[in-house]
Amino acid sequence: MTKAMAMPGVAVYILVWVGLVALSAVTQQDEWDIADATFYGDMSGNATMVAGGDCGYGDLFAQGYGLENTAVSGVLFNDYETCGACFEVRCFNDSLRCAPGSINVTVTSLCPPDPRLPGGGLCQPPRKHFDMSESMYVKIATSFHAGSIPIQFRRVSCVKTGGIKFQIKGSGSGSESGIGASWTPMEREWGQNWQITKTPELVGQRLSFQVTTGNGKVVVSDNVAPADWQFGQIFEGAQFLY
Ligand SMILES: *[C@@H]1O[C@H](CO)[C@@H](O)[C@H](O)[C@H]1NC(C)=O
Ligand SMILES: *[C@@H]1O[C@H](CO)[C@@H](O)[C@H](O)[C@H]1NC(C)=O
Repeated sequence: MTKAMAMPGVAVYILVWVGLVALSAVTQQDEWDIADATFYGDMSGNATMVAGGDCGYGDLFAQGYGLENTAVSGVLFNDYETCGACFEVRCFNDSLRCAPGSINVTVTSLCPPDPRLPGGGLCQPPRKHFDMSESMYVKIATSFHAGSIPIQFRRVSCVKTGGIKFQIKGSGSGSESGIGASWTPMEREWGQNWQITKTPELVGQRLSFQVTTGNGKVVVSDNVAPADWQFGQIFEGAQFLY
């Protein structure tokens, strides 16, 4: 039926990428908090576009994130919980360097401390810091020379286009064996990449996914992948309702 039938019984390595979902969904409008912000790279955003950042989103343009993205310092990144979360950000308390208005950005990466800088730099815990694409930064700063600007930020719901995307990565082979319909937990490999190993049973099976957010919201996407799914394909599931 599929190439998955080729080597019966061999362990398969399945890696599922869960896109466009924040693991800690926002349930109510947050209060404004205070941080500061800089930008990385240049206007093209190519600096992190290719790697896609620590959240493992891959090519950010292909995944629909574009340039409206940001890295955040460790206290805000919160061990990947904030990946995919959206924040409204505005510059404040500096009439010289602040442009009016606000922007909304999606967290796609971690801004790590820099050991070469005194005190570990702007992203050293417990500092709250946004290191965003230049094209977003210049919307809230009067100039790209403005340096590290004081900002206010608050969590907002992300504008959703479509459902959670699942991409079955990796490679493997196995035999069809008709396992029962029970959930198998997946372990985080890195970012939003989740893995199951030793699961030849999943090849040749329709797959459903259940995603749980950091604050316990659950969304189930039934039969997202048909029985003849192939590695590398992307499937779209249900979406969280905020
Ligand atoms: C606003 O800026 C002034 C001058 O830099 C500073 O003293 C003050 O602490 C700032 N206010 C807030 C709320 O950060
Ligand atoms: C940011 O998101 C909030 C909440 O969804 C929305 O009210 C606001 O208009 C958005 N701002 C921009 C600049 O898109």
